[in-house]
Amino acid sequence: MSPEFWWYVTRASALIAWVLLVISVTWGILLSTRVLKPNDNPSWLLDLHRWLSGLAVSFTALHMFSLWIDSYAPFSAADLFIPFHSTYVQVESLGKWPIVLGVVCAYLLIAVQSTSLLMKVLPRKFWKAIHYLSYVVVLLVSFHAGWSGTDVRAWLYRVVAILLIMLTTAALIVRILFPKSARSLSATVEHRRPNQLSEVKRTMYVREVSHPATGIKSLTFADAQVSELPAWVPGSHITLHLPNGMKRQYSLCGDPAERSGYEIAVLRAPESRGGSAFVHDELVAGSTIEVSGPHNHFELEPASEYIFIAGGIGITPIKSMIESLPQRRNWRLLYAGRSRASMAFVQELETNFPGRVTIHANDEVGQQPNLDEFIGTSQAPVYVCGPEPLLAALIERVPAGRLHFERFAAIEREATGGVTEYEVTLNRSGTTFSVTESESLLDAIASHGGGLISSCGEGVCGTCEVRVLEGTPLHLDSVTGDADKDEIGVMYPCVSRSASKKLVLDL
Ligand code: FES
Repeated sequence: MSPEFWWYVTRASALIAWVLLVISVTWGILLSTRVLKPNDNPSWLLDLHRWLSGLAVSFTALHMFSLWIDSYAPFSAADLFIPFHSTYVQVESLGKWPIVLGVVCAYLLIAVQSTSLLMKVLPRKFWKAIHYLSYVVVLLVSFHAGWSGTDVRAWLYRVVAILLIMLTTAALIVRILFPKSARSLSATVEHRRPNQLSEVKRTMYVREVSHPATGIKSLTFADAQVSELPAWVPGSHITLHLPNGMKRQYSLCGDPAERSGYEIAVLRAPESRGGSAFVHDELVAGSTIEVSGPHNHFELEPASEYIFIAGGIGITPIKSMIESLPQRRNWRLLYAGRSRASMAFVQELETNFPGRVTIHANDEVGQQPNLDEFIGTSQAPVYVCGPEPLLAALIERVPAGRLHFERFAAIEREATGGVTEYEVTLNRSGTTFSVTESESLLDAIASHGGGLISSCGEGVCGTCEVRVLEGTPLHLDSVTGDADKDEIGVMYPCVSRSASKKLVLDL
């Protein structure tokens, strides 16, 4: 073996690790901001990001190992792991700092990589905070690599270094300009945040009517003025504005690629307060009605595997989700209901997805579905829509970070941990006011010119969603899981309050 073998390995592995790290961080930024594919569900992008970062860590380990084993390089194991232990200096004016930063980067890289491997069992906020350190790593690595190697004077090395630093800078600019995650970014289009847009209503007519199961009516709405309706993603719903002033939200269950109509399926609820009864009794082919949306509070996150669980009419958003997935994506559906006759789309689902769909009709099986058996040891995210007992059973079993759900109705939540009186600032108007215990936050916003659109007033429809810029909300709504809301930084002020003395809202 050439006496210089390990020295070449040291230099090559360092450069490769740097390149991989920059590409991995850049890829992660593009993925998180959805610059790459705004409306896709690209789990391969995430897989590639993980693969690149795993390789970057491997080459970093090789770099450190070869430095240690190389008799030519003056590095002991202690030099590689203890900051300021090494006496190596490449650029006099910078002293030991480039090497110190290299050691620090190794530790940060280990922290980022190990928490990523454990992300499914770690609190999401903790994982995210550590993951943000990858920006620090990539900046420090640039400094370490730019001022500590023996190649720093070679023109090719300089060209590569400049390109990497430019790429890092460009990626950080993209991250700053598009600061939010995929879910939040999609909110900037019409899918998610009705309150950042005026609530656009369109008059639509009922183009098709069918009855896919006992007590369920399916309707497709079209707009006579436009052939292509606003785009939507699986999990979205539209709001029907009933003639009596009521608003009702229904999940879209058709094919998102089919832009000429919006399809919903509505169960006639025995305890209907007017919504489903109106749809069943009054809407026939040709009827017109005001419709707003689509909006989305139940988005499908990128993943390589999914577990879907639907109860009764909760199949509607789940159906559009599974139909949107690429054919080779790994997923399973448990669809439970009282009887096959009362469950919409059973035959269609069984025919289109043989082997993936488990139908559980209570009148055939005579017992509730075994959720533990269905989920098994899988760590895949679980998407559920169905009645409250089903949701409650899953909330008990599945960690919050893995469970994504949509409710039919509001649940009772205890207001513990909130403050009695708090200050609210509406960031855009600069208005600041106090909210007392007896006042709803939504009303307080309205009386100070905040102008939020609302609908159910019970924390279930998601219409009054507002972004929280500062402070800690006390979530009392039933729209989505609290972890989901905190992740994207939103709250529903029709029922939710504050857990901190001050809230700053994006209004
Ligand atoms: S108005 Fe329905 S969640 Fe607030």
